[in-house]
Amino acid sequence: MSSAAHFAGASPLDAHLARRAHRLASSKTRRPSPRATSSSRVASIAASVSGSGRPTARTHVDRGVAAEGIEVASAGAPSRFARRELFALAAAALASPAAMVPAGAANAAASAVDTPQARAALREALVANVVKTKAPAVLRLVFHDAGTRRVASDDGGANASVRFELSRPESFGLKRGLGPVTAVYEATRDGPASGLSFADVIAASGAYAVELTGGPEITSRLRFGRADATAADPENRMPGESASGEETRAAFSAMGYTLAETVCLAGAHTIGGKGFGEPYVFDNEYYKTLLVRPWDGVKNPGATKDDLEMGSHVGLTSDKNLAIDPPSLEVIERYARDQDLFFEDFAKVYLKMTESGATWRGA
Ligand code: HEM
Repeated sequence: MSSAAHFAGASPLDAHLARRAHRLASSKTRRPSPRATSSSRVASIAASVSGSGRPTARTHVDRGVAAEGIEVASAGAPSRFARRELFALAAAALASPAAMVPAGAANAAASAVDTPQARAALREALVANVVKTKAPAVLRLVFHDAGTRRVASDDGGANASVRFELSRPESFGLKRGLGPVTAVYEATRDGPASGLSFADVIAASGAYAVELTGGPEITSRLRFGRADATAADPENRMPGESASGEETRAAFSAMGYTLAETVCLAGAHTIGGKGFGEPYVFDNEYYKTLLVRPWDGVKNPGATKDDLEMGSHVGLTSDKNLAIDPPSLEVIERYARDQDLFFEDFAKVYLKMTESGATWRGA
């Protein structure tokens, strides 16, 4: 089991104490206040490549990597918010070790987590707090939370531990995604959706981000009741951005994904600033672009130096390497031909990703 604290079998008194500790923590939770943003606008020139292979547009994408303004976590140390949660857990543990419950579970004990009312309240919070321009960052956060999964050691995964991993090099820019997710979590602390854990909210926010940008509807198919971790997952588990196709396949295989699932998940890069079509449109341009390889002069002998320069900004090295990885290429071709199939498969693998390694409360 991961470091996620998951303790079943609490007595009514234990549960009561845990509930009190949790309420105390929740009642002191302030809404996040915007702090001065360092307006670090990084304009990346992304070539939007049409199915015909001609670069058709230059898109300046504000990646706004630095400024989030949410007191979620700071480098290396648990955030104030995280400390509150830890305090609640510690209080419950002092009362009785058996009473220690994951965040949100105390509320869950009082009311069922998954009700039509909870889903409606969650939906309202998603609509109010997740905007299209943050959708890519939110989806990326989901992957960073779940991508620590290791099947062999049966640990890591979709447990909200990403909150404790923000100082890691691979987490650069993740606060941008954590901001809206935290806002959704806080907006659901009172009312019918209060039993949702942070991990549930991460899963729902990413699903909504996909839907908001025109991808498949996944939110209604999500299951709720994940336990939240209280510490970071092990380090050095996220795939590298310079990985070869083989290395990417191996990394995802260690997380429990098949080749097709790996290539399908990678298609998430269709949104965001890497130049796979429009930054806020979830479609199959990722695959169409990988087939064209606009950075590759051998593949595109007619391309000008400028075309190739522009094409070089498209995708990460790991994306470019997938495009020349024969096993991956077969799947890329399939999804480039059939967007409906990509959407259908993406919904399935998204559900798998957001349940990978999850510990279910009450299970
Ligand atoms: C080989 C695997 C992967 C690597 C090495 C990787 C790495 C990265 C890096 C370095 C960025 C930042 C790019 C930039 O703006 O300069 C990024 C962005 C992004 N990643 Fe991945 N990623 C991988 C797989 C995934 C998966 C499986 C998902 C989700 C299912 C995902 C979702 C995203 C999204 C949506 C963005 C855009 C974020 C934004 O524009 O704010 N990535 N990825």
